[in-house]
Amino acid sequence: MTKIIKAPKGLEGVVVDTTSVSNVNAELSKLFYRGYEVAKLSREKSFDEVAYLLVYDSLPKNEELVDFIAKEKKYRPLQEDIQKMIIDLKEAHPMDALRTAVSFLGAKKPNRSFDIDTKVNQDKFINLYAQIPTIIAYHYRASKGLEIIEPLERLTRSENFFNMCFGTIPSKEILKAFEVSMILYAEHSFNASTFSARVITSTTSDLHSAITGAIGALKGPLHGGANEQVMYVLKDLIKSNNTEDWLKEQLDKKRKIMGFGHRVYKNGDSRVPTMQKHLELLTSTEEEKLLLKKQKELAECMTKTKGILPNLDFPAGPAYHMMGFDIPTFTPIFVMSRIVGWTAHVIEQTENIELL
Ligand code: COA
Repeated sequence: MTKIIKAPKGLEGVVVDTTSVSNVNAELSKLFYRGYEVAKLSREKSFDEVAYLLVYDSLPKNEELVDFIAKEKKYRPLQEDIQKMIIDLKEAHPMDALRTAVSFLGAKKPNRSFDIDTKVNQDKFINLYAQIPTIIAYHYRASKGLEIIEPLERLTRSENFFNMCFGTIPSKEILKAFEVSMILYAEHSFNASTFSARVITSTTSDLHSAITGAIGALKGPLHGGANEQVMYVLKDLIKSNNTEDWLKEQLDKKRKIMGFGHRVYKNGDSRVPTMQKHLELLTSTEEEKLLLKKQKELAECMTKTKGILPNLDFPAGPAYHMMGFDIPTFTPIFVMSRIVGWTAHVIEQTENIELL
């Protein structure tokens, strides 16, 4: 007789595997990457160091970091064919253009497409780690009819990204807030996009296929796309006079409030206090002060009315707005970071696959 096991909605409570990449402690509201507390990493380390930690399983020694950064800088430029493809896709949502570009880059390495050796995956990773910001910035400029700005080796990954988008390097506060957001977004165990990457990897498919699938999963507004939706929510809220009335109206219409709730954290997202602090440090103009006021009011009202707390997207969305990015760029920025966590999981899973 066949025994039927009914899986709970959203696989809630189902353990699909274990991982040493990260640990989410929902009770204590703490997050660890390879045993290191993320709040501490965000204060003390650069995003490059955290990326190395996740993908290579230990914090880099000085010469390892120098080598990692040198490779990242070298791989930034895009070849002409992919530049042309991005310009052809300038009308598309940047997440669609990015997903297509990553798939394209995978197809450009046909002889290595089936190679799932860890060193090959780490090499493919550094290429993507370097080129994803260039793809996003090219698309950003092309979609606005602006001249493309080529990557500059003398700049860090974050500085270079701002320069490729805006032609300037921002203040230290903005760069720090950006790096912190990268560190907080880098990895979060078995979330939907990482699970998608792991499902693809389980067939012994390649890294680019896994990352392409993961980008598709991240795009959804209930996952990574929420950081864009938060900004639309706040723009709408600003037009209303009273936050409580606005929230009541939304909840009466059975609308989900973007940037609130989490599958795992029920006592608060461990990453929110750090990002919220940096959002507040970015606030200077009157428009930004009003945005922050409304954002805080909404968090208070939602907690009081529904007992549902903000997730990382709630401070990250307005922070990216204050850094100067337009809303459709928010989720691609998430990819610039999460490529690290996805790769770490792909490598972990690949190393555990027993090939026949
Ligand atoms: N706004 C309004 N109500 C919400 C809510 C939100 N953001 N998140 C959860 N709820 C409500 C649900 O409607 C449900 O109510 P019900 O019991 O009356 O049906 C209850 O809270 C439990 O929600 P549930 O769907 O079990 O939560 P979940 O753990 O399955 O979902 C999310 C988690 C993240 C999908 C969900 O909170 C959500 O859609 N949030 C908004 C999108 C978002 O910010 N995503 C980024 C996540 S990091």
